[in-house]
Amino acid sequence: MSLDWQQQTVIITGAYGGLGQELCKSLDRLGTHLIITGRNKEKLKQLEQSLNNCTSLVGDVGSDEFMNELLVIAMNKKANGHILINNAGVSTAAFLALQSKDEIQAQLNINLLAPILLCQTLLPWLKSSKNGKIINIGSTFGAIGYPGFSIYCASKFGLRGFSQALNRELSDTTVEVQYLAPRAITTKINSDKVNKLNQELNNNVDTPEQLVPQIINAIEKGKKEKFFGFPEKLFAKINGLFPSIVSGSISKELVTIKKHLNKEGQS
Ligand SMILES: NC(=O)c1ccc[n+]([C@@H]2O[C@H](COP(=O)([O-])OP(=O)(O)OC[C@H]3O[C@@H](n4cnc5c(N)ncnc54)[C@H](OP(=O)(O)O)[C@@H]3O)[C@@H](O)[C@H]2O)c1
Repeated sequence: MSLDWQQQTVIITGAYGGLGQELCKSLDRLGTHLIITGRNKEKLKQLEQSLNNCTSLVGDVGSDEFMNELLVIAMNKKANGHILINNAGVSTAAFLALQSKDEIQAQLNINLLAPILLCQTLLPWLKSSKNGKIINIGSTFGAIGYPGFSIYCASKFGLRGFSQALNRELSDTTVEVQYLAPRAITTKINSDKVNKLNQELNNNVDTPEQLVPQIINAIEKGKKEKFFGFPEKLFAKINGLFPSIVSGSISKELVTIKKHLNKEGQS
């Protein structure tokens, strides 16, 4: 069923990031009222000025103050449909032994804890519309554990489980939760070493322009869980059923992954 985008107010975190910016542009063209958020004031202002119907809030997704302010702004922007897109994210590609406790916590806080708390904080707003939607941006790595990305995988597997459970918890309300999982995208979240790794392994990488129409389509169709890109979505399914098959093929990539992700001199 298609969605009347002009009747939606959409909150998006990480709005000026690679995927966020393209989502904002497309939703703006569809006539949606956007509430854009991000932690860099200048970048957020610049994006706001390029959009037609938009409110902005500067802040870190992990901050209580930001969440409470966002709820107040949202409550003043009521529409027929209310949508929260949890898009902000970070990815530290590194082997576990090389990550500090602070790095591990930061990644889990931004990718997992912040979206959970944002859902909780904004539930009154989501429930106050005829149709509320939570869109959690996941990853292929939320279904396939991959060396060098253990914390990122933990955060996205966690977000996937949270999305499924919350969707079931809210099944007697007007709020739905969707977990939408891209494969690699050409954005700044990927460091040079990750880009080189993707190149050497011939991994498929989408541009935000290729991906966003698919995301919008999935939101319109209300798909509860969607993995984008073939064969990645097939691997995600196979990994769920027969993880040892996927382990076998990933183990052949380990030498290459180590070459790119380990610091010089480490093996
Ligand atoms: N790119 C990929 O290969 C890929 C693949 C699958 C899924 N994804 C997912 O797609 C989503 C969007 O990422 P992207 O690819 O567009 O990367 P991106 O260009 O780096 O954008 C990420 C955005 O998140 C924001 N952010 C990070 N930490 C934040 C914090 N503490 N508070 C507020 N904002 C914060 C960043 O803002 P700052 O610039 O201020 O840090 C940036 O705007 C993420 O959830 C990511 O996990 C990406």
